[in-house]
Amino acid sequence: MSFQNAPTRQDFPADFRWGVSTSSFQIEGAGDADGKGESIWDRFCKQPGRIRDGGNGLVACDHYHLYPQDLDMAKAMGVNAYRFSIAWPRILPNGHLGRGAVNEAGLAFYDRLVDAMLERGLDPWCTLYHWDLPQALQDQGGWLSRETVAAFVEYTDIVTRRLGDRVKHWITHNEPWCSSMMSYWENVHAPGGTSFADALQASHHILLSHGLAIPVIRKNVPGADIGITLSLHPITAASDSPEDAAALQRHDGLRNRWFLDPLFGRGYPADTLALAGDAAPTVLPGDLEAIATPTDFLGVNYYFPEMVKHDPDPKTGGPMRASLVEKQGVERSGFGWEVSPQGLVDLLARVQRDYNPTVIQLTENGSTFEDVLTPEGRVHDKERLSYLQRHLAALKAAVDAGVPVKGYFAWSLLDNFEWAEGYLRRFGLAYVDYPTQRRILKDSGLWYGQFLNE
Ligand code: FCB
Repeated sequence: MSFQNAPTRQDFPADFRWGVSTSSFQIEGAGDADGKGESIWDRFCKQPGRIRDGGNGLVACDHYHLYPQDLDMAKAMGVNAYRFSIAWPRILPNGHLGRGAVNEAGLAFYDRLVDAMLERGLDPWCTLYHWDLPQALQDQGGWLSRETVAAFVEYTDIVTRRLGDRVKHWITHNEPWCSSMMSYWENVHAPGGTSFADALQASHHILLSHGLAIPVIRKNVPGADIGITLSLHPITAASDSPEDAAALQRHDGLRNRWFLDPLFGRGYPADTLALAGDAAPTVLPGDLEAIATPTDFLGVNYYFPEMVKHDPDPKTGGPMRASLVEKQGVERSGFGWEVSPQGLVDLLARVQRDYNPTVIQLTENGSTFEDVLTPEGRVHDKERLSYLQRHLAALKAAVDAGVPVKGYFAWSLLDNFEWAEGYLRRFGLAYVDYPTQRRILKDSGLWYGQFLNE
């Protein structure tokens, strides 16, 4: 289906949650304010060649100071939920209590931020880890070390004790694929690394820290609503051949099932473990049970589908012996990501069929294109607007088909620091003019506001 007709808000259940999504390092700035410690992304940005435009998070959108106006804008847009993340090094500049005290000024910032959301009728959705690990923990091995797992649980305890009276929705981790595979193996995200074995070990520790944090959140937050957010991809094979079909299974094993299976109590997929061989992670007794601790929702981030083919060459096909194929003649956004609203329908149907979560929250979805600020101060982002409208139409189709998706969070409220791409990629519903820090709602943001206020 092409999903050409934009839905209206009334096409969705009345209690559907509408939000925008952000993350600490990407928008806050104030990189060394008020006792904040160094994060792995601060360090990474200092390494020449890591960030395409040489950018860093020191100022970003200066949301640390401008949050009242940003939340005003979110409120005016009509969203009822606001997803943000906590910068761990603001709370524990040295990573954990064994190495230094809690930074009260860091907690106080999130107090102010959360109170400001509540004053505006925005329900806070808090992500505990959106990739800005304290550098002090990286110095002890980062996610390769079980000590980081313990430190995450301690950090979770501190944050949820402080904010749990006001914040009910908690996301432990954002996209463990990125904080393990892209960070320890593909060498594009902090801390940087090229080892597949390290990436698998990191992913295991990240999932374990998620599982062990859940009872802590439940203890500290009456009525907590807890989940984890995964980046998931619908995948197709390049041909009908049995070889490509098998490649699809292998690629899906690492990309999707590696995370979904253990969370849903099935342990790591046997086929992926077999292909990993010696690179398989060390898993201690009890770990898998902890990872499978029940949650209240599954967070799904959807951006694009993938197509793969059989590729026996380890250099290009990797350990899964599958490589990505560029589909011809398809629409693409910046990054070359395929634009596929149908992919969202397919993905949600698959997650429901194979894992049957009680609730799904679509915690990110969005697109990047070249934006032009006109002399009249407008941004006519036709393509992003169309992307948003068609993905909401696809979302409606999924809801109508009975998928238990209960909320949608657009990525992102603001243009921001897009990781290894620096400030070159704009994903915001609002344009940020970085030299002046002026925010300008793009046509997509104006439309989302109309949709929500109808
Ligand atoms: C996701 C990340 C988010 C943002 C978008 C474009 O993978 O969670 O921080 O970078 O991609």
